[in-house]
Amino acid sequence: MEDKIRYMRRALELAEQGRGWTSPNPMVGCVVVKEGRIISEDYHHRCGEFHAERNALTYCAEDPADADLYVTLEPCCHYGKTPPCTDIIIEKKIRHVYVGAMDSNPLVAGKGVQILRDHGIPVETGILAEECRRQNEVFFHYMEKNRPFGVMKYAMTLDGKIACAGGDSRWVTGEAARRHVHELRGYYRSIMAGIGTVLADDPMLNCRIPGRRNPVRVVCDSRLRLPLESRLVQTAGEIPVIAACAAAGWDPEKKRALEAAGVTVIVTGGEEMTDLAELMQELHRREIDSVLMEGGGRMHAAALAAGIVDKVYAYIAPKMVGGADAPSPVEGAGIRKMADAAALHDVEILRLGEDWCLSGYLSHK
Ligand SMILES: NC(=O)c1ccc[n+]([C@@H]2O[C@H](COP(=O)([O-])OP(=O)(O)OC[C@H]3O[C@@H](n4cnc5c(N)ncnc54)[C@H](OP(=O)(O)O)[C@@H]3O)[C@@H](O)[C@H]2O)c1
Repeated sequence: MEDKIRYMRRALELAEQGRGWTSPNPMVGCVVVKEGRIISEDYHHRCGEFHAERNALTYCAEDPADADLYVTLEPCCHYGKTPPCTDIIIEKKIRHVYVGAMDSNPLVAGKGVQILRDHGIPVETGILAEECRRQNEVFFHYMEKNRPFGVMKYAMTLDGKIACAGGDSRWVTGEAARRHVHELRGYYRSIMAGIGTVLADDPMLNCRIPGRRNPVRVVCDSRLRLPLESRLVQTAGEIPVIAACAAAGWDPEKKRALEAAGVTVIVTGGEEMTDLAELMQELHRREIDSVLMEGGGRMHAAALAAGIVDKVYAYIAPKMVGGADAPSPVEGAGIRKMADAAALHDVEILRLGEDWCLSGYLSHK
């Protein structure tokens, strides 16, 4: 394998260690190579802390002058929560910089590379660019589309049911699949459910893998029916809860009670129901870069219709429960023609114990 591919792969591996902690920043990895040896390497650990390049160059055991630097994302050139990475690359007299993906943050977008070149440092871009972009698909979406990356997740039986006709849904899938869901909860910044699911299951919507970050919990609740005694409200002080309601049709007293219990209430302009597109804009404004939608069929149908779903994870259990009234993952009125179906692309399939996880992306027409 060519050296620069090998070093960029290593930088990607390092970047991966920040997964779940860097939001709304990207994951970034960096490798410093001198005379054919890696003399330092690091990654962006958490939002607000040093970037990968600054970590790798600050804690370098040897003098990095004349070394080559490999980084998965274009070095930043602006003062944010930390100083520009281009400064330290110039100051440490790096000989050559290799970049994976270009940054789409308008504060950087090509300027980082230009500053380095202006200082006489040759820069080669586009090394494993596709892998580097894919690793940060949430970040690029957040920057380029100006709304959070929307991910729909559901677990269904082989006959397409997410619960039995009587409502029992514990559990559709086995342990390995449920553990995989918790990985997603630890990675995406927020989790969204409809009030139907909250009333039926009284879920916690947290991440149960020790040491991982919990998502902000969002309930689409047009009329603020969220019970004060629900587990969500009872734990709102520890893990944030947002209740998103419609413009009217709710009791101001209930809104005050929820707020007093630590719940943030977002009032959207929806006349009868929470306006999901507007809610996504509001979450974006609050620097929430991604939303994992774990609703029932009604919320999922509305999310698809609103065009806010970018990726789907369908967990499929090889068992059948039947029942014309048993809920399915996407309800609503549905479409009339198969040719108009919301089709996934770049589909992947993963086996998890007895179950399967099928994931893919949705294009917006
Ligand atoms: N297996 C799984 O993966 C899985 C996951 C989740 C849920 N479930 C099951 O799904 C069932 C619940 O399904 P559900 O369809 O009743 O619940 P849901 O989709 O979670 O919630 C539906 C409710 O959300 C509210 N809502 C707010 N804004 C909305 C909008 N813009 N569009 C549509 N709805 C909006 C509506 O109530 P208001 O009008 O009062 O706001 C609506 O009735 C339960 O049996 C649960 O166990 C299974």
